[in-house]
Amino acid sequence: MKIFTFEQVTSTQDLARNYLKQHLDKAAFVANSQTNGYGKQGRSFYAPANTGVYFSIAIPNFNLNPEKSELLTPAIATALVNTLNIFFPLITLQLKWVNDIYLNNKKVGGILTEFSSKGLIIGIGINISTQSFPQELQSKAGSITKHEFNRIELIRSLIDAANNAIITYDPGDFLPEYRRLSCTLNKKVTLKIGKKEIHGLAKDINNQGELVVKSNGKLHSYSSGEVIKVESK
Ligand code: BTN
Repeated sequence: MKIFTFEQVTSTQDLARNYLKQHLDKAAFVANSQTNGYGKQGRSFYAPANTGVYFSIAIPNFNLNPEKSELLTPAIATALVNTLNIFFPLITLQLKWVNDIYLNNKKVGGILTEFSSKGLIIGIGINISTQSFPQELQSKAGSITKHEFNRIELIRSLIDAANNAIITYDPGDFLPEYRRLSCTLNKKVTLKIGKKEIHGLAKDINNQGELVVKSNGKLHSYSSGEVIKVESK
């Protein structure tokens, strides 16, 4: 896959989206910093220089299997954690359903999936050594290490891992590992879907990647929504 690198961009998502308008091959866009990085629900994503990895993969004409569509981002998240574990073997990363990467109860990375009429754009942002965050993020965001890291090798490996997951997600072979990495399973959770909040016990992540929550004595499976609170049982 072609990899384009930049010092500073608005958002690598913008570059990937523009690329898809004129190209029919996959490509990755990496930036050292972003001035307008964003995440799910249009929230801004803090992406300062030198301390994080920020990239987007543009995939033209992606055929998302509708029955397995919820498996794509958890597969990528699992692959990213496996790769991060090789570079940073002393830490215990976890995944909050659906695809946020956590360390010590703080979010260190996220995945954003966007569709354009020309294909799929997967954006990945991971705080590797970011030490200071804007005030509003300080209690929620963290990073992986205080030390320098081999940026080029790490980014290359993460792109390879994500790309491999995009190719192989469909049978769901990664699911046992995804469940093992989950900090959501077997916890009391609050799931926000639109304006509605559901409180219950996260019992399972099923083979479609849905979160199975027990509330008011009944099991419900959810394919979307955001887990806004996780408490031990
Ligand atoms: C989230 O946590 O909601 C997803 C965050 C995704 C951030 C990455 S950084 C690279 C790419 N460019 C962006 O503007 N967003 C994604």
